[in-house]
Amino acid sequence: MTRPKERSRTVFFCRECGYESPKWMGFCPAPTCQSGQPLVEATPAKSNPTNSSWIPTQSEPVQELSVLELDSQQRIESPCQELNRVLGGGIVPGSVVLLAGEPGVGKSTLLLQIAQDMAAAGRSVLYVSGEESPHQIKLRSQRLGFAGKGIFLLSETDVDVVVDRLEEHRPGLAIIDSVQTLYSRDTPSGPGSVAQIREAGLRLMRWSKARQTPVFLAGHVTKDGSVAGPKVLEHMVDVVTYLESQEYGAFRLLRCAKNRFGSTAEVGVFEMTGAGLAEVVDPSKTLLAQRYDQAVGSALVTVLEGSRPLVLEVQALTSFSHLPSPRRVANGVDHNRLLMLTAVAGRRAGLDLSGQDIIVNVAGGMRISEPAADLAIVLAIASSLHNHPLDSEMVVFGEVGLGGEVRTVPQAQRRLQEAQRLGLTRAVLPDATLDAEARPPGMGLVFARTVSQAIKAGSGDRLERREAVATE
Ligand code: TYD
Ligand code: MG
Repeated sequence: MTRPKERSRTVFFCRECGYESPKWMGFCPAPTCQSGQPLVEATPAKSNPTNSSWIPTQSEPVQELSVLELDSQQRIESPCQELNRVLGGGIVPGSVVLLAGEPGVGKSTLLLQIAQDMAAAGRSVLYVSGEESPHQIKLRSQRLGFAGKGIFLLSETDVDVVVDRLEEHRPGLAIIDSVQTLYSRDTPSGPGSVAQIREAGLRLMRWSKARQTPVFLAGHVTKDGSVAGPKVLEHMVDVVTYLESQEYGAFRLLRCAKNRFGSTAEVGVFEMTGAGLAEVVDPSKTLLAQRYDQAVGSALVTVLEGSRPLVLEVQALTSFSHLPSPRRVANGVDHNRLLMLTAVAGRRAGLDLSGQDIIVNVAGGMRISEPAADLAIVLAIASSLHNHPLDSEMVVFGEVGLGGEVRTVPQAQRRLQEAQRLGLTRAVLPDATLDAEARPPGMGLVFARTVSQAIKAGSGDRLERREAVATE
């Protein structure tokens, strides 16, 4: 009996999540995927590709969890503390880390700096670039001020050649810039397609695990913020990090979206300078350095970036409007949130904002997405409207509801501690959910139930103090 000849089977993929189906469908049926896009055709790679034959193939025995011994997993500590923080305490050998970000945000710069740090610590680095020539990389390394000893460059896009070179050189760290440029000859679809990225990702994963060597992959993100092409890659790799630029300015935040070896709550802060990305070890301090006391329309708030508290300055400017519908400009805060807060401040706290243009800005070009900043925005607007500065040693936080009520926000204690660390002595915050022992000693706390109370607490004290000075 003759066996039916094996045909190359065509499968269909979802571009977003990598869902695979033997037949075409007009939308992705995966319950977690809401792409609503039709599946795309791709011929899968031949199973067991010949050029990966060096990978050990014996299967692992079944082990009971309780008897499993942890081989003390040594992390490779980078001199870059912000990177260590985001990765959960250093680079895990045999881990694959995706560094995603928009074009121009600084991925290649950060990767080259990581390469330099590792090379300086005696680990050779193979830097594979499918986007830039070695000449261009040399120019960048000169700009960053290092000679490049211990960093080996390879301009290659064929993933099998890349794996072969990795096998030859056995570097201590591999960097692929970017994963979207890689292709595998066994997969017929074009570079950058789901099937290609999946295949390239898989082969690099296999190499990384087999040789216990970390691999960093740069990945582009699309306009809507997802890693271009495939969510498949995010499922596959061990760590997914995003390098984000803020609204304006030179700050870059490195966030972790997935981490098999640590928490995803850590955020690294960098600043793009003329000589690469510089670590910002104390971002609150850096951001507040240029603030001057007694500024009208300025309020301080502690927001949480992941689990990291940051004290930011919210500024507001109100000015008489000549327009029939006054303007509302939001820089670094959500525009709709600003509209809501001005409406609440008008109706519930009696601020007469109807004839005023309002501009709200977060200093340093930072972006706030937390509702905890609501109260600071309202107080900054009130301060500008009344032309009275808020107490310059005061921090304000709390979510504002449509009824003008001030709602609690998580981690009040951490927010207060960060404010106190920076020398702030007073706080206006939502009505007591904070246990007495959680209150930082020496800090004057005013608990506000409503926006009106908060505005009074924010500015009233100052007026009283001024009067006190005047009568002396
Ligand atoms: P790059 O790392 O090439 O971004 P990506 O790989 O994410 O596309 O760098 C992007 C920008 O950073 C580039 O427009 C120039 C700027 N830059 C600096 O400001 N200072 C520097 O030292 C370097 C190397 C780049
Ligand atoms: Mg780049």
